[in-house]
Amino acid sequence: MARGITTAMLVCAAVVVVLLLLLLLPPTMAAGGGVGGGKGFDYRKALQSGLLYFEAQRSGHLPYNQRVRWRGHSGLADGLQQGVDLVGGYYDAGDNVKFGLPMAFTVTMLSWSAIEFAAEIAAAGERRHVLEAIKWGIDYLVKAHTAADELWAEVGDGDTDHYCWQRPEDMTTSRQAYKVDRHNPGSDVAGETAAALAAASIVFRRSNPHYSHLLLHHAEQLFDFGDKYRGKYDSSIGEVWSYYASASGYGDEMLWAALWLHRATGRRGYLDYAVAMADEFGGTGWAITEFSWDVKYAGLQILAAKVLMDGKYPEQHRATLEQYRSKAEHYLCACLGKNAAAGDNVNRTAGGLLFVRQWNNMQYVTNAAFLLTVYSRYLRDQHSDSGELVVRCSGGTTASAGELAAQARAQAEYVLGANPAGVSYMVGYGRRFPRRVHHRGASIVSHRADGRFIGCVQGYDDWFRRGGANPNVVVGAIVGGPDHRDRFVDRRDNYMQTEACTYNTAPMVGVFAHLHSESDDRHCRK
Ligand SMILES: *[C@@H]1O[C@H](CO)[C@@H](O)[C@H](O)[C@H]1NC(C)=O
Repeated sequence: MARGITTAMLVCAAVVVVLLLLLLLPPTMAAGGGVGGGKGFDYRKALQSGLLYFEAQRSGHLPYNQRVRWRGHSGLADGLQQGVDLVGGYYDAGDNVKFGLPMAFTVTMLSWSAIEFAAEIAAAGERRHVLEAIKWGIDYLVKAHTAADELWAEVGDGDTDHYCWQRPEDMTTSRQAYKVDRHNPGSDVAGETAAALAAASIVFRRSNPHYSHLLLHHAEQLFDFGDKYRGKYDSSIGEVWSYYASASGYGDEMLWAALWLHRATGRRGYLDYAVAMADEFGGTGWAITEFSWDVKYAGLQILAAKVLMDGKYPEQHRATLEQYRSKAEHYLCACLGKNAAAGDNVNRTAGGLLFVRQWNNMQYVTNAAFLLTVYSRYLRDQHSDSGELVVRCSGGTTASAGELAAQARAQAEYVLGANPAGVSYMVGYGRRFPRRVHHRGASIVSHRADGRFIGCVQGYDDWFRRGGANPNVVVGAIVGGPDHRDRFVDRRDNYMQTEACTYNTAPMVGVFAHLHSESDDRHCRK
């Protein structure tokens, strides 16, 4: 008892000291730091910018309402050699290859954003642009699925592409296309594509029911194909090996696909699959601290936890779903540094950034921010008589919905400029952002401004090696970001830090929409 009183008194004293310190700090620091000394963050602008980025990454014949005007038509003969139409889709990053696995993951995350934050996106006036961004990717994935057991998984070739530095509009590199089929299986790329199509079918269910059905049909076929002819796609398509090898195998993608198909169709069979295969595919075994285009365990564990929360499952599935939830909680706790063993937590930089690895670390940050935001919402949506639901971390601690949301917000603020380097890692946002993004199209004069052909090596000589800022600002791109000591070097050849990828920005569509709605709420209450 006496000890309790002492602790309470100490806490009170500490609170008073903190309050005094806050009063003494300059206002911008007390507000958590804004970009360029400003107070808040303009999440609506961040959302709008993020959606523009997907237009900059478009391959194919650009539509009349294309807003990013420094881009032109490109890849118009993709698939021609193989006798299939593979025009369209997205370039994954700063090169001109179309990689099916990360493209599909990008579309899955855009669709998850659109499903979970539909009202917030609509309130920000961005619904049409989100649907367009999803449709641009999905239309391509539908084209690439040319037969029940045939999926084109790559167009272009990383080696020849990287040998050149050319605008997509000038490409002279190989546009060879590569597929998976019965004899050359690829359950990971088939599973991820099925997940993207299933998630997108939910997005378009009301506005375009016919399209939604079509997507579901493709998703179900691809799931069956992936399940029936099992194998890793990088064994079938050697060309992806150095770029997008599937290190985690296909178990995560197949479970992810099953859970998305369950959500899209409500059909019991898909949930049965996710439960029956949980152990063999590592769904309830892997406790992992990263979520990415390759490693989807945390995402699918959260989808399974949501099924549990919604309570619509046969009783015999409960134990497995609880195991899934426990692994989901491990990931969430890792992002908060709340697991008991240090090795079970995600490292953080001194500036507070979640840090998984040096090359394109930002992808882990933005995807974590998304999962934290979504899960905090799931917890809040639960009406429980036994009080607020919490996440249980190893070692007996817990984390609240508020803590998850606060960590997501902190990561988003870091991305937008509240960091030791004072740099916004979203291009075009704030006053200081990367000017030398490792991006072929952005770093070369726009085709529209100067249509003269620029050759393979000429691009390196005339544009890549220039010291100056890129002539085109690839607005909304989120680059690889700083190192483990919050340091960032804005050089075009520093691709680990200055290259941006579609799957860095995709999850932030949901996060920014959510944060914008929260800032709106605050204004209303005043
Ligand atoms: C954290 O960083 C240390 C030192 O670089 C490393 O050994 C460890 O594996 C990292 N932990 C995680 C969970 O990534």
